[in-house]
Amino acid sequence: MNGIHTNILKPDNSLIRLEAPTDMGLSLMELLKANDFDILATCGGMALCATCHIEVVSGFEKLPAISDAEYAMLDTLPNIKDGSRLACQLRLSDAMDNITIKILGDGN
Ligand code: FES
Repeated sequence: MNGIHTNILKPDNSLIRLEAPTDMGLSLMELLKANDFDILATCGGMALCATCHIEVVSGFEKLPAISDAEYAMLDTLPNIKDGSRLACQLRLSDAMDNITIKILGDGN
């Protein structure tokens, strides 16, 4: 099937591979929540809560540019990494196929 694939690296180093349809306009946060990952998304995807904070382990260059609002939120986090992004700000697209991420949350 020709979906958009996302690999999630779990704390025990096992990998889960998710596939999203290309035509639904989901954000990565919505995909993770729909698959029962532990993400609160308290702000509903407005780049205001950082509970959807992820680290992109591979494929960072495939992602859309970071906005000022996303950067400002990430910059407040105690656990920011080089590959940090907010999953709610990443609309799934073909260009993002096959990235690998870790779920970090807001560090609290
Ligand atoms: S869901 Fe709140 S910052 Fe992403």
